[in-house]
Amino acid sequence: PLPRKGTGTLDNLPKDLKKEIEHLERLFTVDGAKLKEITDHFVNELEKGLSVQGGSIPMNPTWVMSFPDGNETGTYLALDMGGTNLRVCQVTLTETKSEFDIIQSKYRMPEELKTGDAEELWEYIADCLMQFIETHHGDPTKLDKLPLGFTFSYPATQNYIDEGILQRWTKGFDIAGVEGHNVVPMFEAALQRRGVPIKLTALINDTTGTLIASAYTDPKMRIGCIFGTGCNAAYMENCGSIPKLAHMNLPPDMPMAINCEWGAFDNEHKVLPRTPYDVIIDKDSPRPGQQSFEKMVAGLYLGEIFRLVLVDLHDNQEIKIFAGQDIAKLRKAYSLDSSFLSAIEEDPFENLSETADLFQSKLGLKPTAPELELIRRTAELIGTRAARLSACGVAAISKKKGYKECHVGADGSVFNKYPNFKARGAQALREILDWPEKADPKEDDPIEILAAEDGSGVGAALIAALTMQRIKQGNM
Ligand code: GLC
Repeated sequence: PLPRKGTGTLDNLPKDLKKEIEHLERLFTVDGAKLKEITDHFVNELEKGLSVQGGSIPMNPTWVMSFPDGNETGTYLALDMGGTNLRVCQVTLTETKSEFDIIQSKYRMPEELKTGDAEELWEYIADCLMQFIETHHGDPTKLDKLPLGFTFSYPATQNYIDEGILQRWTKGFDIAGVEGHNVVPMFEAALQRRGVPIKLTALINDTTGTLIASAYTDPKMRIGCIFGTGCNAAYMENCGSIPKLAHMNLPPDMPMAINCEWGAFDNEHKVLPRTPYDVIIDKDSPRPGQQSFEKMVAGLYLGEIFRLVLVDLHDNQEIKIFAGQDIAKLRKAYSLDSSFLSAIEEDPFENLSETADLFQSKLGLKPTAPELELIRRTAELIGTRAARLSACGVAAISKKKGYKECHVGADGSVFNKYPNFKARGAQALREILDWPEKADPKEDDPIEILAAEDGSGVGAALIAALTMQRIKQGNM
């Protein structure tokens, strides 16, 4: 195990509290043998998703059919509807190989929109695009239509690259009248109503964008991952290994990026070690039974798992943490996000004083010193489990494809900001794939998960460029 950064005084805790921590450790720890079992099942489920009959992991063909070679040029707009923010970018791929210029604006994605009305969502997005164009291009009525790569990071069926039939909302979105429909005409209708001079060229997933953007600058990149609000990956498959596309008679060695949508892994609860808290998260979510894996590892849920543990330790367990205090604020669902957990894990002080301040300011609670230790340990357990389970997905794609050495491009708030996430993931990969001990600790691992290029901006622009090239060459 990685060294703990906490005070390391768990041994001196009162007996009942220690018992509680040991119980949580049993619930949340996933050992190497279990990681291997999960990975093997994961490999089978990836295969199943590509089969005609299908499985619970969607394995969506994306119609992104090549890696960029660095010589792509042109100016493209990119729209990123990720789940937390809305971002509009203008990306210019320059004549200099693998270089680009980017300007961008971020807009808040109002919380009400996520569970509101479809029309309002599309109008809001169209307004943001219009604002961006007016700022950077002037009068929209005088412009030719600009090509756009739309990063729509939800599971979507695509028969073409400029189509996206929403399979189901994920990441807490719940907007009626969109699931089962192609989102492109809805989006374009809103653009037309507003007179926004844009032509959607490609609809992409953030993971596919990450894969392509990272491969643009690093030829060893094979997998694109997002560890953020949601969790997912994309990789390049050969059409010959995608039985569900066999009817299209594509050349067997033709590449096709697959958006795995691995958040849906183990929806049938065969292998993941779910705790009672994971069961509650699922039951109370807008889509129970969906995204089982994602609900254990993604940023949207980490703070909520933590909150449920604390509420349980107050209400139901022998020790009754926060005894005699009013936990009303802690009872509010989704009131703690993963940055709260990050802050706890980052607390460097011997006495966990920053954690104490955080509980006071955010929740009006005064944990005792031993309770602070329990809080810290709980955060570590949840963060560690997320990193280790996430590594199973990376290991599974690598095993399926026979990648012994490669780079994995990763993006998202959890990957970029959650303390120790990278090291814990790397450690898990080592355990799953049985790499020998390194002679020199500075040596690179055979498979490394590295910070990616901006997939939803640069990746979306590159995919728009690749698509336009393909149209020009007359092969869709
Ligand atoms: C969710 C979405 C998926 C996306 C991921 C990361 O899993 O379903 O499309 O890639 O979140 O944003």
